[in-house]
Amino acid sequence: MTITTMETRGTVVFPENFVWGAATASYQIEGATKADGRGPSIWDTFSATPGKVREGDTGEVACDHYHRYRDDVALMKDLGLNAYRFSVAWPRIQPTGSGAANQAGLAFYDRLVDTLLEAGITPYVTLYHWDLPQALEDLGGWTSRDTSYRFADYAAIMYDRLGDRVSHWTTLNEPWVSAFLGYGNGVHAPGRTSAHDALRAAHHLLLGHGLAARALRSAGAEEIMLVVNSAPVLTPAQVNDPAAAVSEADAAAAHRAHALLTRQFLDPALLGRYPVEVLRAAERNGGTAHVLDGDLEIINAPIDLVGINYYNPCVVEDGPGLPADAAWPGSEGVRFATVEAPVTAMGWPIVPSGLSRLLVRLSQDYPQVGLMVTENGAAFDDVVEDGRVHDDARLAYLEGHLRAAHEAIEAGADLRGYLVWSLLDNFEWAEGYGRRFGVVHVDYTTQARTLKDSAFWYRDVINRNGL
Ligand code: FCB
Repeated sequence: MTITTMETRGTVVFPENFVWGAATASYQIEGATKADGRGPSIWDTFSATPGKVREGDTGEVACDHYHRYRDDVALMKDLGLNAYRFSVAWPRIQPTGSGAANQAGLAFYDRLVDTLLEAGITPYVTLYHWDLPQALEDLGGWTSRDTSYRFADYAAIMYDRLGDRVSHWTTLNEPWVSAFLGYGNGVHAPGRTSAHDALRAAHHLLLGHGLAARALRSAGAEEIMLVVNSAPVLTPAQVNDPAAAVSEADAAAAHRAHALLTRQFLDPALLGRYPVEVLRAAERNGGTAHVLDGDLEIINAPIDLVGINYYNPCVVEDGPGLPADAAWPGSEGVRFATVEAPVTAMGWPIVPSGLSRLLVRLSQDYPQVGLMVTENGAAFDDVVEDGRVHDDARLAYLEGHLRAAHEAIEAGADLRGYLVWSLLDNFEWAEGYGRRFGVVHVDYTTQARTLKDSAFWYRDVINRNGL
Protein backbone atom coordinates (compact mmCIF):
# COMPACT_ATOMS: atom_id res chain seq x y z
CA MET A 1 0.00 0.00 0.00
CA THR A 2 1.28 3.48 -0.74
CA ILE A 3 0.22 6.26 1.53
CA THR A 4 0.81 9.11 -0.78
CA THR A 5 -0.17 12.06 1.34
CA MET A 6 1.22 10.96 4.66
CA GLU A 7 4.30 11.79 6.60
CA THR A 8 5.80 8.34 7.08
CA ARG A 9 8.88 9.16 9.14
CA GLY A 10 10.56 11.96 10.97
CA THR A 11 9.80 13.69 14.22
CA VAL A 12 6.34 14.96 14.95
CA VAL A 13 5.39 16.86 18.07
CA PHE A 14 1.79 17.17 19.25
CA PRO A 15 0.31 20.37 20.66
CA GLU A 16 0.87 21.28 24.28
CA ASN A 17 -1.79 19.73 26.54
CA PHE A 18 -2.61 17.06 23.98
CA VAL A 19 -4.35 14.28 25.92
CA TRP A 20 -2.83 10.79 25.72
CA GLY A 21 -4.74 7.86 27.06
CA ALA A 22 -6.35 4.48 26.64
CA ALA A 23 -9.92 3.25 26.52
CA THR A 24 -11.90 0.24 27.71
CA ALA A 25 -15.57 -0.61 28.29
CA SER A 26 -17.32 -2.13 31.28
CA TYR A 27 -18.70 -5.34 29.79
CA GLN A 28 -15.47 -6.03 27.94
CA ILE A 29 -13.19 -6.01 30.99
CA GLU A 30 -14.99 -6.00 34.33
CA GLY A 31 -16.31 -9.56 34.75
CA ALA A 32 -18.02 -9.99 38.14
CA THR A 33 -21.36 -9.87 36.36
CA LYS A 34 -23.28 -11.02 39.43
CA ALA A 35 -21.30 -9.20 42.10
CA ASP A 36 -22.69 -6.64 44.53
CA GLY A 37 -26.19 -6.52 43.16
CA ARG A 38 -25.43 -5.99 39.46
CA GLY A 39 -28.44 -6.85 37.33
CA PRO A 40 -28.24 -8.64 33.98
CA SER A 41 -27.50 -6.67 30.83
CA ILE A 42 -28.44 -7.43 27.25
CA TRP A 43 -24.89 -8.63 26.70
CA ASP A 44 -25.21 -11.24 29.47
CA THR A 45 -28.33 -12.55 27.81
CA PHE A 46 -26.94 -12.37 24.30
CA SER A 47 -23.60 -14.01 25.07
CA ALA A 48 -25.39 -16.82 26.95
CA THR A 49 -27.43 -17.54 23.82
CA PRO A 50 -25.82 -20.33 21.80
CA GLY A 51 -24.38 -19.26 18.48
CA LYS A 52 -24.26 -15.53 19.17
CA VAL A 53 -20.65 -15.12 20.32
CA ARG A 54 -17.66 -16.98 18.90
CA GLU A 55 -16.66 -19.99 21.04
CA GLY A 56 -19.58 -19.23 23.37
CA ASP A 57 -17.45 -16.65 25.20
CA THR A 58 -19.16 -14.37 27.71
CA GLY A 59 -18.15 -11.40 29.85
CA GLU A 60 -18.68 -13.30 33.09
CA VAL A 61 -15.01 -13.15 34.06
CA ALA A 62 -13.41 -11.10 31.26
CA CYS A 63 -10.27 -9.40 32.63
CA ASP A 64 -11.64 -9.53 36.18
CA HIS A 65 -11.01 -5.80 36.24
CA TYR A 66 -13.75 -5.38 38.85
CA HIS A 67 -11.39 -7.01 41.34
CA ARG A 68 -8.07 -6.05 39.76
CA TYR A 69 -8.69 -2.39 38.99
CA ARG A 70 -5.95 -1.23 41.36
CA ASP A 71 -3.32 -3.25 39.51
CA ASP A 72 -4.71 -2.06 36.20
CA VAL A 73 -4.51 1.58 37.26
CA ALA A 74 -0.93 0.93 38.37
CA LEU A 75 -0.22 -0.30 34.84
CA MET A 76 -1.75 2.86 33.40
CA LYS A 77 0.42 4.95 35.65
CA ASP A 78 3.46 2.99 34.60
CA LEU A 79 2.58 3.77 30.97
CA GLY A 80 2.27 7.45 31.79
CA LEU A 81 -1.33 7.78 30.61
CA ASN A 82 -2.86 11.22 31.16
CA ALA A 83 -6.39 9.95 30.65
CA TYR A 84 -8.38 6.77 31.00
CA ARG A 85 -11.70 6.35 29.22
CA PHE A 86 -13.89 3.70 30.82
CA SER A 87 -17.61 3.04 30.86
CA VAL A 88 -20.04 2.53 33.69
CA ALA A 89 -22.15 -0.62 33.66
CA TRP A 90 -25.67 0.76 33.96
CA PRO A 91 -26.96 -2.51 35.50
CA ARG A 92 -24.48 -2.15 38.38
CA ILE A 93 -26.09 1.21 39.17
CA GLN A 94 -29.72 0.39 38.42
CA PRO A 95 -30.03 -3.40 38.26
CA THR A 96 -33.39 -3.16 36.51
CA GLY A 97 -32.70 0.07 34.68
CA SER A 98 -34.77 2.41 36.83
CA GLY A 99 -35.37 3.40 40.41
CA ALA A 100 -33.03 3.78 43.34
CA ALA A 101 -29.29 3.45 42.84
CA ASN A 102 -27.46 0.36 44.00
CA GLN A 103 -24.89 1.77 46.43
CA ALA A 104 -22.45 -1.12 45.99
CA GLY A 105 -22.35 -0.48 42.26
CA LEU A 106 -21.71 3.23 42.73
CA ALA A 107 -19.00 2.42 45.26
CA PHE A 108 -16.99 0.51 42.65
CA TYR A 109 -16.77 3.54 40.33
CA ASP A 110 -16.02 5.73 43.32
CA ARG A 111 -13.01 3.58 44.14
CA LEU A 112 -11.93 3.45 40.50
CA VAL A 113 -12.12 7.23 40.10
CA ASP A 114 -10.25 7.83 43.35
CA THR A 115 -7.55 5.37 42.37
CA LEU A 116 -7.15 7.07 38.99
CA LEU A 117 -6.93 10.51 40.53
CA GLU A 118 -4.34 9.32 43.05
CA ALA A 119 -2.33 8.04 40.09
CA GLY A 120 -2.62 11.42 38.34
CA ILE A 121 -4.84 10.02 35.57
CA THR A 122 -7.89 11.97 34.38
CA PRO A 123 -11.07 9.89 34.22
CA TYR A 124 -13.19 10.10 31.06
CA VAL A 125 -16.50 8.50 31.95
CA THR A 126 -18.73 6.95 29.29
CA LEU A 127 -22.26 6.35 30.50
CA TYR A 128 -23.37 3.87 27.86
CA HIS A 129 -21.10 1.42 26.12
CA TRP A 130 -23.78 -1.08 25.14
CA ASP A 131 -24.66 -2.94 28.36
CA LEU A 132 -28.33 -1.97 28.62
CA PRO A 133 -30.12 -3.42 31.66
CA GLN A 134 -32.01 -6.48 30.40
CA ALA A 135 -35.13 -5.33 32.25
CA LEU A 136 -35.28 -2.29 29.96
CA GLU A 137 -34.85 -4.43 26.87
CA ASP A 138 -37.79 -6.51 28.11
CA LEU A 139 -39.83 -3.29 27.96
CA GLY A 140 -38.72 -2.57 24.41
CA GLY A 141 -35.10 -1.52 24.84
CA TRP A 142 -34.00 1.37 22.66
CA THR A 143 -37.08 0.97 20.48
CA SER A 144 -39.01 2.35 23.43
CA ARG A 145 -39.01 6.08 24.02
CA ASP A 146 -39.11 5.52 27.75
CA THR A 147 -35.54 4.14 27.66
CA SER A 148 -34.26 7.61 26.70
CA TYR A 149 -35.77 9.08 29.86
CA ARG A 150 -34.44 6.23 32.01
CA PHE A 151 -31.00 6.92 30.54
CA ALA A 152 -31.16 10.57 31.57
CA ASP A 153 -32.16 9.55 35.12
CA TYR A 154 -29.18 7.24 35.29
CA ALA A 155 -26.87 9.98 33.94
CA ALA A 156 -28.05 12.27 36.74
CA ILE A 157 -27.36 9.58 39.35
CA MET A 158 -23.82 9.17 38.03
CA TYR A 159 -23.13 12.90 37.96
CA ASP A 160 -24.46 13.23 41.46
CA ARG A 161 -22.01 10.60 42.68
CA LEU A 162 -18.90 11.37 40.62
CA GLY A 163 -19.39 14.96 39.45
CA ASP A 164 -17.22 16.33 42.26
CA ARG A 165 -14.24 14.46 40.76
CA VAL A 166 -15.09 13.81 37.11
CA SER A 167 -15.16 16.65 34.56
CA HIS A 168 -15.24 14.65 31.31
CA TRP A 169 -18.56 12.99 30.50
CA THR A 170 -19.56 10.96 27.48
CA THR A 171 -23.19 10.04 26.97
CA LEU A 172 -23.11 7.29 24.33
CA ASN A 173 -20.47 5.18 22.70
CA GLU A 174 -21.16 4.50 19.01
CA PRO A 175 -24.96 4.79 18.80
CA TRP A 176 -24.74 3.56 15.19
CA VAL A 177 -23.47 0.20 16.42
CA SER A 178 -26.02 0.00 19.25
CA ALA A 179 -28.88 0.67 16.85
CA PHE A 180 -27.87 -1.01 13.61
CA LEU A 181 -25.92 -4.04 14.84
CA GLY A 182 -28.15 -4.45 17.90
CA TYR A 183 -31.54 -4.03 16.21
CA GLY A 184 -30.73 -4.06 12.47
CA ASN A 185 -28.57 -7.04 11.52
CA GLY A 186 -28.65 -8.62 15.00
CA VAL A 187 -24.91 -9.28 15.21
CA HIS A 188 -24.83 -7.54 18.61
CA ALA A 189 -27.14 -7.63 21.62
CA PRO A 190 -30.10 -7.63 21.81
CA GLY A 191 -29.90 -9.37 18.44
CA ARG A 192 -33.04 -8.01 16.85
CA THR A 193 -33.36 -7.77 13.07
CA SER A 194 -35.71 -5.05 11.91
CA ALA A 195 -34.87 -1.91 9.96
CA HIS A 196 -37.77 -0.11 11.61
CA ASP A 197 -36.60 -1.08 15.10
CA ALA A 198 -33.05 -0.04 14.26
CA LEU A 199 -34.12 3.41 13.08
CA ARG A 200 -36.32 3.89 16.13
CA ALA A 201 -33.47 2.76 18.35
CA ALA A 202 -31.13 5.26 16.68
CA HIS A 203 -33.59 8.07 17.36
CA HIS A 204 -34.17 7.08 20.98
CA LEU A 205 -30.44 6.78 21.56
CA LEU A 206 -30.08 10.33 20.26
CA LEU A 207 -32.97 11.49 22.41
CA GLY A 208 -31.35 9.81 25.41
CA HIS A 209 -28.11 11.57 24.54
CA GLY A 210 -29.84 14.96 24.45
CA LEU A 211 -31.75 14.40 27.67
CA ALA A 212 -28.64 13.14 29.44
CA ALA A 213 -26.54 16.03 28.10
CA ARG A 214 -29.10 18.49 29.49
CA ALA A 215 -29.19 16.71 32.84
CA LEU A 216 -25.40 16.63 33.05
CA ARG A 217 -25.08 20.26 32.05
CA SER A 218 -27.67 21.53 34.48
CA ALA A 219 -25.98 19.56 37.25
CA GLY A 220 -22.71 21.33 36.40
CA ALA A 221 -20.77 19.04 34.04
CA GLU A 222 -17.75 20.78 32.57
CA GLU A 223 -17.28 18.82 29.37
CA ILE A 224 -19.79 16.68 27.51
CA MET A 225 -18.91 14.42 24.62
CA LEU A 226 -20.73 12.16 22.18
CA VAL A 227 -18.63 9.32 20.77
CA VAL A 228 -19.35 8.00 17.29
CA ASN A 229 -17.85 5.31 15.12
CA SER A 230 -17.06 7.32 12.06
CA ALA A 231 -15.08 6.73 8.93
CA PRO A 232 -14.39 8.57 5.74
CA VAL A 233 -16.52 7.08 3.00
CA LEU A 234 -14.29 6.41 0.01
CA THR A 235 -14.57 4.75 -3.34
CA PRO A 236 -12.19 1.81 -3.90
CA ALA A 237 -9.92 3.98 -6.07
CA GLN A 238 -9.69 6.69 -3.39
CA VAL A 239 -8.31 4.30 -0.78
CA ASN A 240 -4.81 4.45 -2.18
CA ASP A 241 -5.17 7.59 -4.21
CA PRO A 242 -7.08 10.34 -2.42
CA ALA A 243 -7.12 12.38 -5.61
CA ALA A 244 -8.67 9.62 -7.75
CA ALA A 245 -11.56 10.72 -9.95
CA VAL A 246 -15.01 9.69 -8.70
CA SER A 247 -18.01 9.14 -10.95
CA GLU A 248 -21.26 10.91 -10.17
CA ALA A 249 -22.97 7.63 -9.30
CA ASP A 250 -20.17 6.58 -6.94
CA ALA A 251 -20.16 10.02 -5.33
CA ALA A 252 -23.90 9.71 -4.71
CA ALA A 253 -23.40 6.30 -3.07
CA ALA A 254 -20.63 7.71 -0.87
CA HIS A 255 -22.73 10.71 0.06
CA ARG A 256 -25.59 8.46 1.17
CA ALA A 257 -23.38 6.12 3.18
CA HIS A 258 -21.82 9.12 4.95
CA ALA A 259 -25.31 10.39 5.81
CA LEU A 260 -26.31 7.00 7.24
CA LEU A 261 -23.13 6.39 9.22
CA THR A 262 -22.04 9.78 10.51
CA ARG A 263 -24.51 12.54 9.72
CA GLN A 264 -27.40 10.47 11.08
CA PHE A 265 -25.95 11.18 14.54
CA LEU A 266 -23.88 14.33 14.24
CA ASP A 267 -26.40 16.41 12.29
CA PRO A 268 -29.17 16.00 14.88
CA ALA A 269 -26.77 16.39 17.81
CA LEU A 270 -24.87 19.38 16.44
CA LEU A 271 -27.17 20.98 13.87
CA GLY A 272 -30.60 19.99 15.18
CA ARG A 273 -31.80 18.23 12.02
CA TYR A 274 -31.79 14.84 10.33
CA PRO A 275 -30.21 14.36 6.92
CA VAL A 276 -32.87 13.83 4.28
CA GLU A 277 -31.35 10.41 3.50
CA VAL A 278 -32.18 9.23 7.01
CA LEU A 279 -35.75 10.54 6.87
CA ARG A 280 -36.23 8.76 3.55
CA ALA A 281 -34.88 5.53 5.01
CA ALA A 282 -37.32 5.85 7.90
CA GLU A 283 -40.22 6.58 5.56
CA ARG A 284 -39.47 3.41 3.63
CA ASN A 285 -39.20 1.39 6.86
CA GLY A 286 -42.28 2.00 8.98
CA GLY A 287 -42.31 5.79 9.03
CA THR A 288 -41.15 8.62 11.25
CA ALA A 289 -43.94 8.68 13.85
CA HIS A 290 -41.34 8.05 16.59
CA VAL A 291 -39.77 11.46 15.90
CA LEU A 292 -41.89 13.87 17.94
CA ASP A 293 -42.05 17.64 17.76
CA GLY A 294 -39.34 19.10 19.96
CA ASP A 295 -37.12 16.01 19.91
CA LEU A 296 -34.51 17.56 17.66
CA GLU A 297 -34.26 20.55 19.93
CA ILE A 298 -33.53 18.24 22.86
CA ILE A 299 -31.03 16.22 20.84
CA ASN A 300 -29.29 19.44 19.81
CA ALA A 301 -28.26 20.14 23.42
CA PRO A 302 -24.88 21.92 23.41
CA ILE A 303 -21.90 19.61 23.78
CA ASP A 304 -18.17 20.29 23.82
CA LEU A 305 -16.49 17.42 22.07
CA VAL A 306 -17.14 14.70 19.57
CA GLY A 307 -15.18 11.52 20.12
CA ILE A 308 -14.17 9.62 17.02
CA ASN A 309 -13.61 5.88 17.04
CA TYR A 310 -11.73 5.14 13.84
CA TYR A 311 -10.51 1.75 12.67
CA ASN A 312 -10.89 1.68 8.90
CA PRO A 313 -12.55 3.58 6.07
CA CYS A 314 -15.99 2.76 4.73
CA VAL A 315 -15.58 1.89 1.07
CA VAL A 316 -18.55 1.98 -1.27
CA GLU A 317 -19.53 2.35 -4.89
CA ASP A 318 -22.67 2.56 -6.91
CA GLY A 319 -24.55 -0.76 -6.84
CA PRO A 320 -27.59 -0.36 -9.10
CA GLY A 321 -30.50 -2.54 -7.97
CA LEU A 322 -28.86 -3.80 -4.77
CA PRO A 323 -31.13 -4.12 -1.72
CA ALA A 324 -30.21 -2.31 1.49
CA ASP A 325 -27.73 -4.02 3.80
CA ALA A 326 -29.46 -5.12 7.03
CA ALA A 327 -27.22 -2.83 9.09
CA TRP A 328 -27.73 0.07 6.70
CA PRO A 329 -31.42 0.82 6.14
CA GLY A 330 -31.50 3.34 3.32
CA SER A 331 -28.47 1.88 1.53
CA GLU A 332 -30.39 0.51 -1.46
CA GLY A 333 -28.15 0.77 -4.51
CA VAL A 334 -24.93 1.09 -2.49
CA ARG A 335 -22.31 -1.64 -2.82
CA PHE A 336 -19.98 -2.08 0.17
CA ALA A 337 -16.69 -2.86 -1.51
CA THR A 338 -13.56 -4.69 -0.48
CA VAL A 339 -10.34 -2.78 -0.23
CA GLU A 340 -6.82 -3.25 -1.55
CA ALA A 341 -4.95 -2.96 1.72
CA PRO A 342 -3.37 -5.12 4.42
CA VAL A 343 -5.83 -6.17 7.10
CA THR A 344 -5.85 -6.76 10.88
CA ALA A 345 -7.01 -9.98 12.57
CA MET A 346 -10.55 -8.58 12.34
CA GLY A 347 -10.13 -8.44 8.57
CA TRP A 348 -10.30 -4.66 8.79
CA PRO A 349 -8.22 -2.83 6.15
CA ILE A 350 -5.37 -0.70 7.49
CA VAL A 351 -5.68 2.79 6.01
CA PRO A 352 -4.12 5.40 8.31
CA SER A 353 -4.66 8.24 5.84
CA GLY A 354 -8.41 7.68 6.37
CA LEU A 355 -8.05 9.12 9.85
CA SER A 356 -6.61 12.43 8.67
CA ARG A 357 -9.26 12.76 5.97
CA LEU A 358 -11.97 12.09 8.50
CA LEU A 359 -10.70 14.49 11.16
CA VAL A 360 -10.22 17.30 8.68
CA ARG A 361 -13.69 16.82 7.21
CA LEU A 362 -15.46 16.63 10.58
CA SER A 363 -13.62 19.69 11.80
CA GLN A 364 -14.86 21.57 8.75
CA ASP A 365 -18.42 20.25 8.92
CA TYR A 366 -18.84 20.76 12.67
CA PRO A 367 -16.57 23.64 13.71
CA GLN A 368 -18.58 24.20 16.90
CA VAL A 369 -17.01 21.21 18.68
CA GLY A 370 -13.53 19.94 19.40
CA LEU A 371 -12.53 16.42 18.39
CA MET A 372 -10.85 13.60 20.21
CA VAL A 373 -9.81 10.20 18.90
CA THR A 374 -11.53 8.13 21.56
CA GLU A 375 -10.65 4.76 20.03
CA ASN A 376 -8.09 3.60 17.53
CA GLY A 377 -6.19 0.35 17.51
CA ALA A 378 -5.91 -3.09 15.99
CA ALA A 379 -6.32 -6.78 16.75
CA PHE A 380 -3.50 -9.12 15.83
CA ASP A 381 -2.72 -12.71 16.81
CA ASP A 382 -0.24 -11.89 19.55
CA VAL A 383 1.95 -14.48 21.23
CA VAL A 384 3.85 -14.22 24.50
CA GLU A 385 7.45 -15.39 24.08
CA ASP A 386 9.83 -15.28 27.04
CA GLY A 387 7.64 -12.74 28.75
CA ARG A 388 7.49 -10.40 25.74
CA VAL A 389 4.94 -9.74 23.02
CA HIS A 390 6.57 -8.46 19.85
CA ASP A 391 3.51 -6.85 18.33
CA ASP A 392 5.29 -4.98 15.56
CA ALA A 393 2.18 -4.89 13.39
CA ARG A 394 0.16 -3.11 16.09
CA LEU A 395 2.98 -0.71 16.75
CA ALA A 396 3.13 0.14 13.05
CA TYR A 397 -0.66 0.55 12.95
CA LEU A 398 -0.61 2.96 15.88
CA GLU A 399 2.34 4.91 14.57
CA GLY A 400 0.72 5.29 11.15
CA HIS A 401 -2.49 6.55 12.70
CA LEU A 402 -0.75 8.95 15.03
CA ARG A 403 1.09 10.44 12.08
CA ALA A 404 -2.25 10.76 10.33
CA ALA A 405 -3.75 12.44 13.40
CA HIS A 406 -0.85 14.86 13.49
CA GLU A 407 -1.29 15.60 9.82
CA ALA A 408 -4.93 16.45 10.49
CA ILE A 409 -3.90 18.88 13.21
CA GLU A 410 -1.47 20.54 10.79
CA ALA A 411 -4.33 20.82 8.31
CA GLY A 412 -6.43 22.64 10.88
CA ALA A 413 -8.41 19.92 12.69
CA ASP A 414 -9.17 20.80 16.30
CA LEU A 415 -7.96 17.49 17.73
CA ARG A 416 -7.53 17.49 21.50
CA GLY A 417 -6.35 13.97 22.28
CA TYR A 418 -5.85 10.34 21.35
CA LEU A 419 -6.99 7.29 23.30
CA VAL A 420 -5.74 3.92 22.18
CA TRP A 421 -8.13 0.98 21.96
CA SER A 422 -7.44 -0.77 24.11
CA LEU A 423 -5.55 -0.82 27.35
CA LEU A 424 -6.14 -4.55 27.79
CA ASP A 425 -7.01 -7.48 25.59
CA ASN A 426 -10.70 -8.01 26.30
CA PHE A 427 -14.09 -9.44 25.32
CA GLU A 428 -14.45 -8.32 21.72
CA TRP A 429 -18.26 -8.59 21.55
CA ALA A 430 -19.45 -11.16 18.99
CA GLU A 431 -15.80 -12.16 18.40
CA GLY A 432 -15.22 -13.10 22.05
CA TYR A 433 -11.71 -13.35 23.45
CA GLY A 434 -10.18 -14.47 20.15
CA ARG A 435 -9.44 -10.92 19.05
CA ARG A 436 -6.76 -9.13 21.02
CA PHE A 437 -6.76 -5.33 20.83
CA GLY A 438 -4.77 -4.52 23.98
CA VAL A 439 -1.41 -2.86 24.29
CA VAL A 440 -1.33 -5.07 27.38
CA HIS A 441 -1.72 -8.80 26.90
CA VAL A 442 -4.12 -10.69 29.17
CA ASP A 443 -3.69 -14.40 29.89
CA TYR A 444 -7.30 -15.41 30.54
CA THR A 445 -6.27 -18.51 32.52
CA THR A 446 -4.08 -16.73 35.04
CA GLN A 447 -5.22 -13.12 34.51
CA ALA A 448 -1.54 -12.20 34.12
CA ARG A 449 -0.96 -8.89 32.34
CA THR A 450 2.07 -8.53 30.05
CA LEU A 451 3.03 -5.22 28.47
CA LYS A 452 3.35 -5.70 24.72
CA ASP A 453 6.09 -3.90 22.78
CA SER A 454 3.42 -1.43 21.64
CA ALA A 455 2.83 -0.47 25.28
CA PHE A 456 6.51 0.33 25.83
CA TRP A 457 6.51 2.28 22.58
CA TYR A 458 3.33 4.16 23.54
CA ARG A 459 4.90 5.12 26.87
CA ASP A 460 7.75 6.76 24.93
CA VAL A 461 5.30 8.52 22.62
CA ILE A 462 3.47 9.99 25.61
CA ASN A 463 6.72 10.93 27.24
CA ARG A 464 7.94 12.77 24.14
CA ASN A 465 4.47 14.10 23.27
CA GLY A 466 5.11 12.83 19.79
CA LEU A 467 7.01 10.54 17.49
C1 FCB B 1 -15.60 -0.39 18.79
C2 FCB B 1 -16.13 -0.53 20.19
C3 FCB B 1 -15.16 -1.10 21.17
C4 FCB B 1 -14.29 -2.18 20.57
C5 FCB B 1 -13.71 -1.74 19.24
C6 FCB B 1 -12.81 -2.76 18.59
O1 FCB B 1 -16.66 -0.43 17.90
O2 FCB B 1 -16.56 0.72 20.69
O3 FCB B 1 -15.88 -1.55 22.29
O4 FCB B 1 -14.96 -3.36 20.52
O5 FCB B 1 -14.74 -1.40 18.37
